[in-house]
Amino acid sequence: MDPSQVKIPPMKNLTVDNITENVIRINSLCEDQRMKYILERLVTHLHDFARETRLSSDEWMTGLRFLTEVGQITTDVRQEYILLSDVLGLSILVDSIDHPKPPGSTEGTVLGPFHTHDAEEMSAGDSMSHDPEGEPLLVVCTLRDTEGRPVEGVKIDIWETDSSGHYDVQYAGREGPDGRCIMRSGSDGVFWFKAITPVPYPIPHDGPVGRLLKKLHRHPYRPSHMHFMFEKEGYDHLITALYLRNDPYETSDAVFGVKDSLTVDIGKVGPELSKKYDVPEGHALLTYDFVLVSDEETSQLRAYNSKVALDKLGRKVKIVNGLPVPDLD
Ligand SMILES: [Fe+2]
Repeated sequence: MDPSQVKIPPMKNLTVDNITENVIRINSLCEDQRMKYILERLVTHLHDFARETRLSSDEWMTGLRFLTEVGQITTDVRQEYILLSDVLGLSILVDSIDHPKPPGSTEGTVLGPFHTHDAEEMSAGDSMSHDPEGEPLLVVCTLRDTEGRPVEGVKIDIWETDSSGHYDVQYAGREGPDGRCIMRSGSDGVFWFKAITPVPYPIPHDGPVGRLLKKLHRHPYRPSHMHFMFEKEGYDHLITALYLRNDPYETSDAVFGVKDSLTVDIGKVGPELSKKYDVPEGHALLTYDFVLVSDEETSQLRAYNSKVALDKLGRKVKIVNGLPVPDLD
């Protein structure tokens, strides 16, 4: 690039007070309006952060070393960056912004760092857990749209820990998936399978994120839960989980994922379900009715929420595809 061809004033003698506007100005050459907006806000907040905290060089270097360690411990089965985003509350915040839910639909929650892409597709009634120590659990769910119609053929990813609170990927020498499966909803919107009753577990805390929690006097535990992810064209991608009521960590989840609407009681199988699903009476039972939202309804809600939020901030932006970009008109 020939600097003489760039329509940017020379950048010299920058100060605490004018560095921000000049960095934003040079970044504004970016043709992607959404990226330009994100960079503008990122630089503004980063610089304000440094100015407001009077960030010292040592503190800045400590932060960089910390992020370096987060990267160094990350592998394809250990995602320390997701963990960092989770414990800072950013993951649940982004999910709430990007996947708004109208009343009556199933709320989303954090993906967490343990989803994999190698779960096996299973048939109705199959067992996704091979842990003999776990309490056997029958799971019977329905899947509907916001009009109450069953949604057929949805790809449903489900994953949980074993009875010791570890996901399969946390074991060295893992040979294949366990405690996870993929199911498809039937024409009646029902899907059912066998699993084990979830237990609480600590997020991996032997790395930089764990050390951060310790320093903050925070515990690393998540309440007992089972993860679900729903995908079907025309519907908003739903990442959620069901949490067990009265879990000791129900109100202090290390990653802020618990919502009342996703909290369930473990019941017992009665005579009717015992016959229908061929499990003994008294067997542990989890039931839930999930409600998916159409892409169209979600994008309308996202655009509306964006406009309300940005108006409140007094930003001069326009909303394109539900997301703010600079208003250059
Ligand atoms: Fe989890």
